Amino acid sequence: MTIDIRGDRISDAETRRRLTAGLELYRSRTRQLIAPLSYDDVHRQQIEIMSPLVWDVGHVGNFEEVWLLRELDGRAPHDLLYDQMYNPFDNPRWIRGDLPLLDRDEAVEYSDEVRGDALAILNRVELDPDDPLLRDGYVFKMVIQHEAQHHEIILQALDLREDLEPYSIASFAPSRPVDHLDDAERILIPGRPFLLGTDERTEAYDNERPQHWVEVASFEIDRFPVTNRRFSEFVDAGGYEQQDLWASEGWEWRNSAGIEVPQGWVRQVGGGWLIRRFGHVFDLDPAEPVQHVSFHEAEAFARFAGGRLPTEPEWEKAASWGPGATTPRIYPWGSAAPSSEFANVGQSHWGPAPVGSYPSGASAYGVEQLLGDVYEWTSSRFLGYPGFESFPYPEYSEEFFDDIEYRVLRGASWATSTAVSRSTFRNWDYRVRRQIFSGIRMAWDV
Ligand code: AVJ
Ligand code: FE
Repeated sequence: MTIDIRGDRISDAETRRRLTAGLELYRSRTRQLIAPLSYDDVHRQQIEIMSPLVWDVGHVGNFEEVWLLRELDGRAPHDLLYDQMYNPFDNPRWIRGDLPLLDRDEAVEYSDEVRGDALAILNRVELDPDDPLLRDGYVFKMVIQHEAQHHEIILQALDLREDLEPYSIASFAPSRPVDHLDDAERILIPGRPFLLGTDERTEAYDNERPQHWVEVASFEIDRFPVTNRRFSEFVDAGGYEQQDLWASEGWEWRNSAGIEVPQGWVRQVGGGWLIRRFGHVFDLDPAEPVQHVSFHEAEAFARFAGGRLPTEPEWEKAASWGPGATTPRIYPWGSAAPSSEFANVGQSHWGPAPVGSYPSGASAYGVEQLLGDVYEWTSSRFLGYPGFESFPYPEYSEEFFDDIEYRVLRGASWATSTAVSRSTFRNWDYRVRRQIFSGIRMAWDV
C-alpha cells in the first residue's frame, strides 16, 4: 500500500500505473518541445548562461539512468563519459556548448533505451516502505519532476530567441472574470506563529523539509502579481535610470548589461510597448503579470513603489494558511490537484494570464495567482531549514545553500509542470537571472 501527497491510500499496482503514465507523459513532452526545432537550434548555445538544448535531453536521460537503473537496480554505467558530460556541477552552463555531447538523435536513442529499462524496473521493484527512495514511489516521482523542470529550462532558452518562432502560440486571451479590479489591492496577513515547510515524503524535495514553527509580524501583500501596467509606471518614470532605487550590485549589473526594460519588451514607435514571446510579437497586455525581471529589477521596482519584496515565510504564510487555519493547505486553493480551474500552470498557455483570471485559485486569505503565471522573487537567501537533511543527494539543493548570489523564488510559472507546483516548493536563482519566468509580488510592513 502507498499514499500520495494528500495522504490518500493507493494500491501498489495503481501507483505503478500512475508512475508509468507520468514518466511517459513527461517524456512525450520533452520530444514535443524539441520536435519543431532544427539540428542547429538544439545544438547551439543561445547565450552563455543557458545550455544547448541537446545537453538537457542527454542530461535528463543520464539522471534517469543514475537513479533508476544504477541506484535501484545496480546496473553498470552505460558510459562514464556521459556521467562526466551531463553532470551539471562539473560542467557549468557556459562550457556545455564545447562538450562532445551526444547529438540530437543519439541523445534521444540513449534516453529511450534508459526509459525502456526503467519501466521494466518499475514493474518489478518492491515499493519498499522501509526505503525512503522507494516508499510511495518517491524516486520515480523525483525523476518525473526532474524532467519537468528541464522542460521549463528548455522553454526559457527558446524564449530568448528573436530569430526563431519555434511554436505557434496565441497570445493569452482567457475570459476575464473581473473587469474593474484594482490590480494594486493589498491583503492584510496577521502575524502569528505558523508551520513553515512540510514533512511530506511522497513528492516534496529535501529543501522543503522539515516543517518548523516560524513567526512573522503582520504584513500586507499584493492580492495579485505586479502587472505590466504597474511595472510600466516604473519604466515611464525613469526607474531604470535612477540609481537611488537600486542596490549597488543591481546598479552595476544594470549598467554592465545595459538593462532598460524587462526581457522581451520593445518600445513601440509613437508610445506603448510590444512584447516578444518565443519570437512572436504582441501588444503588451497591461493586465498580465510582468515577466522576465531579475531580482535586482524586482527590488528596484519595489523601492520605487514604496513596498518591498516578501520574505519566503511571508509568501508561504499567505499561500498556505488562512484565518483560523490549523493546518496548511497543499495548494493555495486546498488539496485538489493543480489544473486550469485553479491556476495557469503546466504549459497550457505561453505566458502569464491577466490578473483576476483565477479567482477559484485564491488562498484562504484571498491572495490570487500564487501558483502559476510567474515565479515570484522573495528577499530571502536560499538556506536549509533548521534540521535540514539532504535527501537523496546534496547536489539538488544543499550545494547551493548559503551562496550570496542566490535568492529564493516562490510559486510556479505558467511553464511549471503540475508535478512541481505546490506551495512549499522552493526555487532559487542568481539575482541577475531574468531568462526564467519570474515576476514580482510586493509586501508592506504594517
Ligand atoms: C530548482 C530550477 C534551481 O535548474 O538548477 C534541474 C532545477 N535541478 N536539475 C536548476 C534542477 C536539477 C534547478 N532549480
Ligand atoms: Fe537537472
